[in-house]
Amino acid sequence: MSQWDELFIGNSQSFLKAKNMIPRLSASKSTVLISGETGTGKELFARALHYSSERRGKPFVPVNCAALPDHLVENELFGHSKGAFTGALAEKHGLFHEADGGTLFLDEINSLNMVAQSKLLRVLQDQEFRPLGSTKSRAVDVKIVAATNTDLRYLVEAHQFREDLFYRLNVLSVVLPPLRDRREDISDLAKHFVDRSAEEFGKGAVRLSADAMMKLMNYAWPGNVRELQAVIHRAVAMAIGDVLEAADLDLPDHEPAGVAATVVSEGPTEMVIGQCGFQAMKAKMIDEFERTYLSKLLSVHQGNISQAARAARKERRAFQRLLHKHGLDRRIFSAA
Ligand SMILES: Nc1ncnc2c1ncn2[C@@H]1O[C@H](COP(=O)(O)OP(=O)(O)OP(=O)(O)O)[C@@H](O)[C@H]1O
Ligand SMILES: [Mg+2]
Repeated sequence: MSQWDELFIGNSQSFLKAKNMIPRLSASKSTVLISGETGTGKELFARALHYSSERRGKPFVPVNCAALPDHLVENELFGHSKGAFTGALAEKHGLFHEADGGTLFLDEINSLNMVAQSKLLRVLQDQEFRPLGSTKSRAVDVKIVAATNTDLRYLVEAHQFREDLFYRLNVLSVVLPPLRDRREDISDLAKHFVDRSAEEFGKGAVRLSADAMMKLMNYAWPGNVRELQAVIHRAVAMAIGDVLEAADLDLPDHEPAGVAATVVSEGPTEMVIGQCGFQAMKAKMIDEFERTYLSKLLSVHQGNISQAARAARKERRAFQRLLHKHGLDRRIFSAA
């Protein structure tokens, strides 16, 4: 576990809560469902589960479910026997076979089509699969780790994801928090990426100026850790001296920092007032208000969307859209 400690940076409470689950999740044979916005570290987490488990000597096989064409899903996952269809000149092993004894990482599981969902459900229930055209089933010992950037419960409600498969996948689950909700991790992560990039580009020690760090802390990071990593990488590549200044960090202007201001400084309004025009400031304040209001409401109603929407006197769907806009996951607020 020690190498994962070093690779997986962050000391915020919400991040540590997830990270501290790694030993328990990796020791169990049960399926693990990792949820989190884009760039929050889902794949890194899945790898940590595999390489800290007893399966580490066997393959870790990642599959991007969104990139599997519908008509090839079964072929890719289960393989086929020789002569299974015109053109099947030889036997082909599927990904389940490849991952035997190890871990199959089903990334973007939310994108799996309905047919593939039912096939996957069968494998999970029976622990065996049948290659296309074969009459014999094969037993497999594969740990399934799935990742989603959409709350699968919403998809179940919208009849786009099988409920029975959801429960099969959700035996053990972990939610990786977005970066804007754990701003205290930004500084450690930024320093880590500066060091790594400097090493990669063969530069000596590079550091961030106080203004540069402030700029990072005040940004909303919709692309989460991946975006932070990319911004630093670019800045280090282009930097001339050994200090990165705020101007060296290429961040989009349109991303509101309003959310940040509530956390970073004692006086959110004071900090940004004077730096923004009226319209921009108003947008920031509204954004900030929405987020705080929604968070409080969800917390009062313990993540129950119907109740929270009723209390806000909003349509459930419109309410969900607002949650989505702010990247709020109701599960974080549930009592369990
Ligand atoms: N806590 C962390 N410490 C160090 N590096 C991290 C951390 N979290 C994520 N990263 C790095 O950020 C990048 C994005 O992480 P990863 O690919 O695991 O995210 P993801 O949730 O799978 O994203 P996506 O949904 O876009 O596929 C990777 O390079 C990863 O190594
Ligand atoms: Mg990923």
